[in-house]
Amino acid sequence: MSPAPTPPASGAAPSPPAAAQTPGFGRLDPLPGPDQKTQAVREMFDTIASRYDLVNRLMTFGLDITWRRRTVRALGLAAGCCVLDVACGTGDLSRELARQQLRPIGADLSAGMLRAGLATVPVIQADASDLPVPDAAVDGVACAFGMRNFSNLPAVLAEMGRVLRPGGRLALLDVAPTTGVVHMGHRLWFERAVPIIGAIFSDPAAYRYLPRSVAYLPPTPELLSWVRRAGFSGVNRRLLGGGIVQLITGTRTPAPTTSLVTRP
Ligand SMILES: C[S@@+](CC[C@H](N)C(=O)[O-])C[C@H]1O[C@@H](n2cnc3c(N)ncnc32)[C@H](O)[C@@H]1O
Repeated sequence: MSPAPTPPASGAAPSPPAAAQTPGFGRLDPLPGPDQKTQAVREMFDTIASRYDLVNRLMTFGLDITWRRRTVRALGLAAGCCVLDVACGTGDLSRELARQQLRPIGADLSAGMLRAGLATVPVIQADASDLPVPDAAVDGVACAFGMRNFSNLPAVLAEMGRVLRPGGRLALLDVAPTTGVVHMGHRLWFERAVPIIGAIFSDPAAYRYLPRSVAYLPPTPELLSWVRRAGFSGVNRRLLGGGIVQLITGTRTPAPTTSLVTRP
């Protein structure tokens, strides 16, 4: 897998590394830069929506279900709490939230993905960096396999911090950059087999993009520092699936209390 690129100082999504920029595979090849990314990603998910769940199950051998279950548990919220599922797609994570007695609201950019999910939970079509949700309105924010698709991840993290109440919980699930033997196995499966599965059941360009898009994530220390800077404490990262997936959790820090200064 390509090494994670160095993000620009502005905090916008990193540009893809030069090695990933092999022309000639359609609109997602080379990996689009921040300016074209949102539109390219939305079009791609609109295109693959109807087969998205099926290909997910095939390419992870169904493990994605377990990972989402653990993501919801990691929120550690009481039954009845309201959780915003950012980049909800077809709603797998939202359905797991509901199964664990939480109250999900889904938000996603792609109308196609929302439609394919048959909206069994309330959903809104929105960009994760500009959510139509009031400040401190939800008890939890969860996001599965969304991070590497955002054009400006720090802006999305800030938005997650804005909509969460103080003490609210965050859980972010996504693929992890891999090393060593795991890296070799991962590379073989996701860069060779997955594009073939994608080509048979769905859109070939999309399933070439998805494995490579991990290159958009910054190095782990940087990613965790972005989460902290967005207003989260107790930030923790654990690896799942033998190291191919990461789950990041944190708690929304209360806004600093302004002390009353008595003037003489
Ligand atoms: C890999 S899918 C994950 C879907 C779902 N969370 C799951 O676990 O299967 C990524 C989703 O992110 C959505 N997405 C990408 N960029 C977005 C943005 N800027 N705002 C909201 N959703 C976005 C896509 O439309 C897509 O549904």
